Amino acid sequence: MTRLAVVTGGGTGIGRATAGMLAGEGFDVIIVGRRAEVLADAVKWIGPQATAVTADAADPAQIPAVVEAVAGRPLDVLVNNAGAYIGGDDTTLDAVAARWRANLDSNVLSAVLMTTALLPQLRRPGGKIILTSSIAAQRGGGGPYSAAKAALHGYGLDLATSLGAEGITANVIAPGYVTDSEFFDGRMTPEGHRKRVDASVLKRAGTPDDIAEAVRWLIGPGGGFVTGQIINVNGGSVLGR
Ligand SMILES: NC(=O)c1ccc[n+]([C@@H]2O[C@H](COP(=O)([O-])OP(=O)(O)OC[C@H]3O[C@@H](n4cnc5c(N)ncnc54)[C@H](OP(=O)(O)O)[C@@H]3O)[C@@H](O)[C@H]2O)c1
Repeated sequence: MTRLAVVTGGGTGIGRATAGMLAGEGFDVIIVGRRAEVLADAVKWIGPQATAVTADAADPAQIPAVVEAVAGRPLDVLVNNAGAYIGGDDTTLDAVAARWRANLDSNVLSAVLMTTALLPQLRRPGGKIILTSSIAAQRGGGGPYSAAKAALHGYGLDLATSLGAEGITANVIAPGYVTDSEFFDGRMTPEGHRKRVDASVLKRAGTPDDIAEAVRWLIGPGGGFVTGQIINVNGGSVLGR
C-alpha cells in the first residue's frame, strides 16, 4: 500500500517543498494549513498524491479533521512544520503574555496537538516524526519565537525517548535562513538579507529544497538509526551544536 505522510504548513515554503519531495518518493501526502486557497494551489503544484485539510494546527477543535483525512491508514511520516514568528509590542504585561502565548501556540502547541492526535496511527515499527525548529533556538534573536523553537527540542527528545521501543524515530530539523517562503514577508530588508547570508560559512541563503533534502535523508534508509537529534541545516551559521 502507498505510504502516507502528513505535512503541516505544507501550503508554502519549506512545507510545500517537503510535501513535493515526499510525493516524488511515492508517498500520499496530506498537507495542512489555515488558508484553503493556498493549500489548493499547493495541491496543484505537488500533484495527484496530495490532498489538503484546512485546519489550524494549534486549535484542538480543528485537529480531528486531519485524523479523519488519515482515515485509519498507517501513517509513515509526520512533519510538524507549521510555525511562525509572531511579533508585537511589549509595552504592557498583557501584550507580552499575548505574544508569548501566540508564539508558543504557533510553534509548539501545533506540533504537540498534531503529534498527540496522530500518534495512534503512526506506523510501528517505522514511523518517523520530524519537528521543524530554527537556528533561532540555538542562538536567540527572536524573543519568544526562539524560546518556542527551543521548546520543540525538548519535546523532540522526549518523543524519541518514549517512542523508540516502538520503532518510531523523532528528530528535529533546525533550519538557518531560508528564502522563497512567506516566513519573512514584510519583515526582510536588503541589509537583513545580506547580514544573514554573510553569517553563513557557505555565503548563501538556504532554500526550501535544502530542508526537504534533510527530511528525505531522515525518512529514508540513511535515517534508520537516527533519532533524538537536532539536525542543523543552516549553511554553517551556527557550528557544531
Ligand atoms: N524561512 C526561514 O528562514 C526559517 C528558518 C528557520 C525555521 N523556519 C521554520 O520553518 C517552518 C516553515 O517556515 P517557512 O519558511 O516555510 O515559512 P512559511 O512559508 O510562512 O510557512 C509556514 C506555513 O505554516 C502554516 N501555518 C502557520 N501556522 C499554522 C497553524 N497554526 N496551523 C496550520 N498551519 C499553519 C502557514 O500557512 P497558513 O498561514 O495558511 O496556516 C504556512 O504555510 C516554520 O516552522 C518556521 O518557523 C523557517
